[in-house]
Amino acid sequence: MAGSGTAHLRGDGDSLLRVEHLLVEFPVGRSGLKVNAVTDVSFDILEGETLGIVGESGCGKSTTGRAVMQLPPPKGGRVVYDGVELTSLKGEDLRAMRPRLQMIFQDPISSLNPRRKVKDIVREGLDIWNIGDKDSRDAKVLEVLEAVGIDPANVERRPHEFSGGQCQRISIARAVVTDPKLIICDEPVSALDVSVQAQILNLLEDMKARYGLTLVFIAHDLAVVKNVSDRVMVMYLGKVCEVAGPDTLYSQPAHPYSAALLAAIPVPDPGSRPAAAASAPAARGPSRSAGRRSPSCARWRQASTWRATSRSSPERRSPSAGRPRCRSRRRSRRARPRRQSPQPLRTWRPPSTDAKKSSTSSWAASSTLT
Ligand SMILES: Nc1ncnc2c1ncn2[C@@H]1O[C@H](COP(=O)(O)OP(=O)(O)OP(=O)(O)O)[C@@H](O)[C@H]1O
Ligand SMILES: [Mg+2]
Repeated sequence: MAGSGTAHLRGDGDSLLRVEHLLVEFPVGRSGLKVNAVTDVSFDILEGETLGIVGESGCGKSTTGRAVMQLPPPKGGRVVYDGVELTSLKGEDLRAMRPRLQMIFQDPISSLNPRRKVKDIVREGLDIWNIGDKDSRDAKVLEVLEAVGIDPANVERRPHEFSGGQCQRISIARAVVTDPKLIICDEPVSALDVSVQAQILNLLEDMKARYGLTLVFIAHDLAVVKNVSDRVMVMYLGKVCEVAGPDTLYSQPAHPYSAALLAAIPVPDPGSRPAAAASAPAARGPSRSAGRRSPSCARWRQASTWRATSRSSPERRSPSAGRPRCRSRRRSRRARPRRQSPQPLRTWRPPSTDAKKSSTSSWAASSTLT
């Protein structure tokens, strides 16, 4: 299945979220041109499932997530959540649906209001929707903060007094406090280091089990997506390439772009690539990130050609494509000097008497030890 197909959709009544032929366009300044950020995307999620969405930067993952939330409403297509067609709702009717589906944003720190205390940030949804009385709201805020591992003693602090991982925990607490059924997690761990990533992923799994959540998990890290997802949707240039279970996708990618994406996963030692990845047709070429492509690999050439032709399609082409570059950049005195080619490393020699006179020159020599 690729592009605008709907063969991967399951029965209409089974899914908690069903998205059909989603279309999102953005205007390009005042030129009258448009960017098709998401084109004809369809997918569905059953209750309790986790759908992973992967793809390279700029392929439309976040835009898809925001369009599901109607932030802003998409230009075309249908979004049906829990039997209600969100795309047909407006004003107060749409607002009334907001607490039932929530989003965790890509940047944990900037998604929290820096002027508000943590307890107020988490409590805001309960206040807006008038859920419970004052005491029960306070108790609920403390319960969810404790559940995500934030010490209730710190609820008076503001976001800048927390680390990125702690801010992401606060974002998760804010998302679950209104008891939503569905949470769209937009790259919840990409800004965090590996050990904190693992903690947040475990936390999301715990929250899913504890509050009976259904998750859309957006990421560009294929290993992370494989671990958390029941199904994975691969996107490229605003379209769906493939939807499959993680095991099928990772062992037998059906679309050349999925295969290229899998082949691009860096491995510490390319010689020790796992057997499954090595036997995948397109993965036979060496790691893309290692900068060594195999032109003799027919599947790799096929994937490259497919990528090149899709990129140059008129609907995706940048409006500035083909125009001469700004010449004043070269003339400006402030223009940055052209990058010098790296100097060859010098071989270290014992410091001579001249070198001893200048401590900086011996530092420079020792730093280029080969
Ligand atoms: N508000 C906007 N106005 C104009 N273009 C936009 C806007 N938001 C997104 N785009 C464009 O839509 C495309 C998809 O963007 P999106 O943020 O969905 O990518 P992404 O897959 O989430 O990337 P990343 O992995 O880097 O977060 C990009 O080409 C982007 O430039
Ligand atoms: Mg994004």
